[in-house]
Formats: sequence, structure tokens, C-alpha cells
Amino acid sequence: MQYVVETKGLCKYYGDVRAVDGADLKVPKGTVFGIFGHNGAGKTTLISILAGLTLPTKGKALVLGYDVIRESVEIRKRIGLLPEGFGFYDNLSALDNLIYLAELDGMDRNTARKRALEVLEIVGLKEYAKNKVGTFSRGMKQRLGIAQAILKDPDLIILDEPTVGIDPYGATKIRQLIVTIAKGGKTVIISTHLLYEIGQICTHAAIMRMGKVIMEGSLEELTKAIRDAYGYKYEIEVFDRSTLDLIKKDIENINGVDEIIINDLRIVVNSRYDIIKEIAKVLKDLRIEIKTFREIPPSWEQIYTILYEKSGGEVSV
Ligand SMILES: Nc1ncnc2c1ncn2[C@@H]1O[C@H](COP(=O)(O)OP(=O)(O)O)[C@@H](O)[C@H]1O
Ligand SMILES: [Mg+2]
Repeated sequence: MQYVVETKGLCKYYGDVRAVDGADLKVPKGTVFGIFGHNGAGKTTLISILAGLTLPTKGKALVLGYDVIRESVEIRKRIGLLPEGFGFYDNLSALDNLIYLAELDGMDRNTARKRALEVLEIVGLKEYAKNKVGTFSRGMKQRLGIAQAILKDPDLIILDEPTVGIDPYGATKIRQLIVTIAKGGKTVIISTHLLYEIGQICTHAAIMRMGKVIMEGSLEELTKAIRDAYGYKYEIEVFDRSTLDLIKKDIENINGVDEIIINDLRIVVNSRYDIIKEIAKVLKDLRIEIKTFREIPPSWEQIYTILYEKSGGEVSV
């Protein structure tokens, strides 16, 4: 099975509200897959369908090869989920909460206790195992939520906005934890309304807007799509100012060049196409000593801006 999640034309309507509206998605095995979208984009609804908790109105979705309509019980058994607003018993300790959940899942008490301690260690809460959850910070509660999601050692873990409402330090710890979990060969799907979070920890992402997946792929594919649509940018830095005009003159002749900006000892080239090889050839043929030559990839801020414009100004940070 190449994809742990595969959806086609997936829809969920609530009356007139099209919460998910024809979503096509492919989540490759072993990835950290980000579902990005502003509030109301349909992330939670999509996750709820994938987790086998909500039936789609129409369309198809396979999770770990199981059909969300006919085999939701199999899916629920096999995945780990941190739903939006997951709550624990405040008066019970972290350990007892997890033991309780593990027993609900059918583990015997000893296994449940052993596994609960293991996952508490993974999420960095072992020393708080005996403390009541009511005394935990939001970040700690969320990490306990992730502990709960990995209790069964599932191959697919789905976390709905795991860092929402968490302070920056707590959020960083959660992101590190997600990366650690994924390094063990698991697939992790997270939803987020923070674009930079995708850049920080995801290998793949889908951009959702009004129930639709408007872009999907690996981060390389996504940045390439952005480049293909909005152009490439290169920067050349020289040692000797007098060489700038020579370089400029030759680069101007390359097909696709839109703009050349000279700034101090730097030349910035904007191009419609990928012309890195052509520029390299010009520099080689001119035999001019170059300090640096690189492509400037679009930053997440730029991608964000582009998506913001594409989506009619509705993407929130
Ligand atoms: N149970 C529900 N009943 C009616 N409308 C809903 C329900 N759940 C979600 N919606 C609506 O569906 C849309 C998508 O919501 P949601 O999936 O929660 O988005 P997100 O998680 O991206 O913020 C929103 O307009 C929301 O109000
Ligand atoms: Mg949500």
C-alpha cells in the first residue's frame, strides 16, 4: 500500500454548508502530512471522516486500505487520533487517564500500565505521570493527547491542530515530538492554520480552501508549483563591480528572463523558467570570479502571500 489515505471527490454537506466539497487527497506512507487551511476550511470535518467518525455525503475514502463507509470499525481500531478539543479527566493522574483509555481499547491492566508509561516517556511527561491532569499546562495536556493517540502503536496518527492555543515553547516541543514519532516510520497527518508550521515539520501538504484541496504534494512539489506559476529568482554576488554589466548583458539574452536588478555587488534575476543551468554557463564562459550564485527559493511568507491572494484574502496566519 503506497498511500495510507486516498480520497476521491469526498464531500460532506451540512444542509447548505459544504464543509468538505470534492476533496482529492493522497497521503504517502511515512510522511508528515500537513492539512493547511484557515478556520472553516473543512480540516476537522475531513479528519473526522478519515477517522471513521463521520460519514461522507458522497465520494470515496480509503484509510490504510479500508473504506470509511463500510469499514470504519477497522479504521478506528488501527489509527491514533487526537481530535479537536480532546479532554481528559482532570481529577485523574496522567497515568491513570492513559491506563483507563488503554483498557477501554481492550488491553489488560498490566499491558495498559506498561504501555502508558512508555508513551508518557515518549511525549516527555514521565516525571508527571502521577500528577493530576488538572494541574497540567495546555501544552502538557496536548502532549498527553498525543500520548493517547500513540497508545496502540498505530501506523497512522492523525492530530487535529495539535499546536493550536499553545505557547511558542510548548508548540515547539509538540512539533519536535511529531517529528520524532514520524522518524519511527509512522505516518502523521496534522491539520494547521499556520503555514510556517508546514514548512517546519511537514514533508507533504495539502492546502484546503472552502472544503476543496487546492494544492497537494511534497514540499518540493509545492514550491515548484509556486515557482512555475510565479517564476524563479536567482542571486549572483561578484567581487568586482566592473564585472556586473558584462554578466547582466549575457543573462539578458537567456530566454525567460523577466527582470535583472543590480544592487551593490549583487545581481538578482527574475525568470519565468528555471534557468539555473543557463546562468551557470554564462558565468563559466565569462570566466569571472563569483562570490556566490544561488537560487532564492520562495519563502513560506511569499508562498503564504501567493496563496492569500489566490484565495481572495481569506487565508489566516
Ligand atoms: N456538525 C456540523 N454541523 C453544521 N456545520 C458544520 C458542522 N461541522 C462543521 N460545520 C461547518 O463546516 C465548515 C468546516 O468546518 P470545519 O471542518 O470545522 O473546518 P476547520 O476545521 O478547517 O476550521 C464550517 O463552515 C463549519 O461551520
Ligand atoms: Mg478544525
